[in-house]
Amino acid sequence: MKLWGGRFEKETSREVDDFHSSIHFDHRLYRQDILGSIAHATMLGKQGIISPQEAEAICQGLKQILKDIEEGRVTFSVTSEDIHMNIESLLIERIGEVGKKLHTARSRNDQVALDTRMYTKEAIDEIIKLLLALEEQLLTLADRYKETIMPGYTHLQKAQPVTLGHHLMAYFEMFRRDIERLKDALKRVDVMPLGSGALAGTTYPLDRHYVAQQLGFSSISRNSMDAVADRDFVLEFLSCAAIIMMHLSRFCEELILWSTDEFKFIEMDDSYSTGSSIMPQKKNPDVAELIRGKTGRVYGNLVALLTTMKGLPLAYNKDMQEDKEALFDAVDTVKSCLSVFTGMLRTIKVYSENMLKQATRGFINATDAADYLVTKGVPFRDAHHIVGKLVLYCIQNGKVLEELTLEEYRQFSDRFEQDIYDAISLKNCVSRRNLPGGPAPDAVSQAIEEARKWLEQQ
Ligand code: ARG
Repeated sequence: MKLWGGRFEKETSREVDDFHSSIHFDHRLYRQDILGSIAHATMLGKQGIISPQEAEAICQGLKQILKDIEEGRVTFSVTSEDIHMNIESLLIERIGEVGKKLHTARSRNDQVALDTRMYTKEAIDEIIKLLLALEEQLLTLADRYKETIMPGYTHLQKAQPVTLGHHLMAYFEMFRRDIERLKDALKRVDVMPLGSGALAGTTYPLDRHYVAQQLGFSSISRNSMDAVADRDFVLEFLSCAAIIMMHLSRFCEELILWSTDEFKFIEMDDSYSTGSSIMPQKKNPDVAELIRGKTGRVYGNLVALLTTMKGLPLAYNKDMQEDKEALFDAVDTVKSCLSVFTGMLRTIKVYSENMLKQATRGFINATDAADYLVTKGVPFRDAHHIVGKLVLYCIQNGKVLEELTLEEYRQFSDRFEQDIYDAISLKNCVSRRNLPGGPAPDAVSQAIEEARKWLEQQ
């Protein structure tokens, strides 16, 4: 018999049971559901809404169910629809009449909001931990390669020299913001909705703060209708997840590009690569590609739930049950991607000589040649034009700036002197970019030091 079967004269059709029941995915909320129920029952007992003995019997029953689920002794049923009613039915089955008192002053609407918030809080904590491990790894690599000169790109065309360390620290900053975004989102997830009932609160003298306190929530929801109708805490999480995936995807794209024979800046470890069933020579960066690919499904989860929510009248609607698969899938995807990405990064082999070789082609020190003329009193716009002509001359004669004789330089401007060679040496070009936030090894060392301090505080 259904827990809500009283006003019905017929059974739900089997097809409808299968269609609307969520147990095949929301069983994942069993622990949150049971802990939430224990807190609720304890509060009902303390407030004299049920007797302390009844509360105790309910809590003991729930604890036993938790243990049995964890040890694989429970099978859930679709006729009980969702995790909330599965557990309540089990409780009644096991402890009898008194089990029927658990749902006093509660609705599945505030119950599911509670469970989902508890789950999201935990997921955010776990994802932050994975991001912190990635940040550690980035700092290790950035420190190791802070003097490794490579071309920096704009439009994927060689632009100015940077170092691999500086490039990696750019990602450190992106993931730092991701962590901060999650922490900020957490403030709005960390709100306890129980006591909102179906939508209009309840007439019982609940102690909502006590429930929040037992479950480790910082505050309670301020409006009963909002509390059961709100899923923006899930949407905020999904937005954060989408941005994390976007960052991972860009990073993967670069690693894929850098592992091509054309770039050959890095090589993925064998343990993070795969082969081809037909082409014997192949070593493919599948892991990076798959992470890039999985970004799509996390975006999809965000857009799916935004779309589900957009036309819903207040308060709860069954449409909202669709939040969970999107949430669970995003959590699983982000967690596995972060974990495998960190391992992949830890094992890459860096070909510093090839980075340097590519940095010496493509005139990435042309800006420095122009800046050199500026120090000799040439206005920047004229200096830009002179060096532009120089570059054209080099292209026509198959040379790079370092290879021109002083006589050749002086055909373009008599301000060029012997010290031009120093000014355009790649090492100097990088080390002179020494402002805070710049690529010079000193500046990167400082950035790493600041980053370490920040990491320690997390
Ligand atoms: N399984 C439902 C969900 O995930 C629980 C809430 C159901 N409430 C209701 N009034 N049907 O949203």
